[in-house]
Amino acid sequence: MNLQNKVAVITGGNSGIGFASAKEFKKNGATVIITGRNKEKVKKAAEELGVKGVVADVVDIHQTNNLATEIGNEFGKVDILLLNAGIFLPEPLGSLSEDGYNAQMDINLKGAIFTVDKFIPLLNDNASIINVSSELANKGVANTAIYSATKAALNSYTKTAATELAPRKIRVNSINPGPVSTPIYAKTGMSEEQLDDMAEHFKNRVPLKRFAEPSEVAKLAAFLASDDASFITGSEYNIGGGINVSI
Ligand SMILES: NC(=O)c1ccc[n+]([C@@H]2O[C@H](COP(=O)([O-])OP(=O)(O)OC[C@H]3O[C@@H](n4cnc5c(N)ncnc54)[C@H](OP(=O)(O)O)[C@@H]3O)[C@@H](O)[C@H]2O)c1
Repeated sequence: MNLQNKVAVITGGNSGIGFASAKEFKKNGATVIITGRNKEKVKKAAEELGVKGVVADVVDIHQTNNLATEIGNEFGKVDILLLNAGIFLPEPLGSLSEDGYNAQMDINLKGAIFTVDKFIPLLNDNASIINVSSELANKGVANTAIYSATKAALNSYTKTAATELAPRKIRVNSINPGPVSTPIYAKTGMSEEQLDDMAEHFKNRVPLKRFAEPSEVAKLAAFLASDDASFITGSEYNIGGGINVSI
């Protein structure tokens, strides 16, 4: 129970890695709040997890402000911030859409950065901020130019934020998952056949030859959130079955 007495906020906590992290954080003793953009999904997930759920679209800074105010009023301070909300919209060069660019930059990058900004006054000294990035931040995989750029930028932000928040002993780290079995792929709008091809391709590039389970990523997040990681900041943790070292 190494997250006892800690308050954790997880963006995009109604699904996938965020949902699994909420479960893991709660199991380890934390008080957990999940957010999401869809009222029904947030309600259902919060009930299933037995945690508080708040609807707040990370793109809308006004909603993020309201989220911070609500959490401040109800819980006081926050110890763990998991910036997990994200989308993946693969598109080939030459056919990139401005909508796809804006959506991925807004959710994956702006959403994380401004959530942190609005929560800074609420964070306890010694708090842990964890950005859910991707192995793709450091790769050159076809059709992922914009998505990968959002995650590379997020990892750059992690480093700056780690330095800037160090005087308050607030730690900032990134997690770089490889392929994880979550609903993110089904939300791309790709056909079943395309999804199967992509899954096969990704799986073959992973030396351990499988996708991660969300719970495996959640365990890493729980470690970085805990005081066991007290001297770790400004770091990127790869969790991709070895995909970071394969060609
Ligand atoms: N799965 C992978 O292979 C993989 C690999 C590397 C990195 N990641 C990263 O891991 C994170 C979690 O993804 P996942 O795989 O767990 O996908 P997921 O199951 O689709 O979960 C993403 C969560 O973010 C929420 N979200 C999306 N846009 C939002 C917005 N504007 N405001 C608030 N919440 C929003 C989603 O809500 P809805 O349910 O309403 O869509 C969902 O709860 C993402 O940052 C993703 O880039 C995933």
